[in-house]
Amino acid sequence: MEMETLRDLFLDELKDVYHAEGQLVKALNKMAKTAESDELKAAFQQHLEETKDHQERLTKVFELFDEKPKTKVCKAMQGIVEEGKEVMEEDMEPDVMDAALIASAQRAEHYEIAAYGTLRTYAKLMGEDEAAKILQSILDEEGATDKKLTKLRRDRIGFVWGDLYRTQAYPGPGANPATGEGFLPCAAPGMPNAQYCGADNNHYNGYTEPNWANESSKPIIFPWLALQTGVRYKPHRNFIARFDTGFSTSGFFFGVGAVG
Ligand SMILES: [Fe+2]
Ligand SMILES: [Fe+2]
Repeated sequence: MEMETLRDLFLDELKDVYHAEGQLVKALNKMAKTAESDELKAAFQQHLEETKDHQERLTKVFELFDEKPKTKVCKAMQGIVEEGKEVMEEDMEPDVMDAALIASAQRAEHYEIAAYGTLRTYAKLMGEDEAAKILQSILDEEGATDKKLTKLRRDRIGFVWGDLYRTQAYPGPGANPATGEGFLPCAAPGMPNAQYCGADNNHYNGYTEPNWANESSKPIIFPWLALQTGVRYKPHRNFIARFDTGFSTSGFFFGVGAVG
């Protein structure tokens, strides 16, 4: 096609991005299935729906220019999608796979952001305000998706919560006060050892330390930033069993979990 005017160039790029969106519908579907974390899965699924809607909105832009929606092969997006497929074929730890999927998706988003920014500007220059508005609305969603993906890429930090249980204890026969070894729980105030089982408190039989929730200074939530290691067993795409252990800022932990 000969390109003489800005309108020609605009339509050429519109067909290109229309094709790119079509490729992304397929790719996002696969990425949502491959993603490990529920949040990332949900982000891909949401953007899949948005992408279908972008195709719809692009047909409106074609209409505004009295053109039938047509595609022109977007080689750039083909390349990005192809690389994404290669990533998904790799054998990776789930967390690493998620990071790789986010990187692929962001490449696609950045391409779209560049394309829609340009198209919107061309539409404005041609005085096609309605088309410019539609293109801006798509651009906004691409930007929001990009930001969301950046957030999902952050390292995992979290918190655990729980109550602090205390029980007064006294040294049993041969107890070692230095290590606490051989100490036994007191039965009641003064029982059986008045020296250790103080009558001035009620820390007996699973006494729960008051926490923030009931006007004390003891935390109920403990932040953690963990160094952890673990084994995972993933016999099925939708099932993972894991055993993790590690050190965190609030102590040592281990845990088992299964996610269906
Ligand atoms: Fe899009
Ligand atoms: Fe997108």
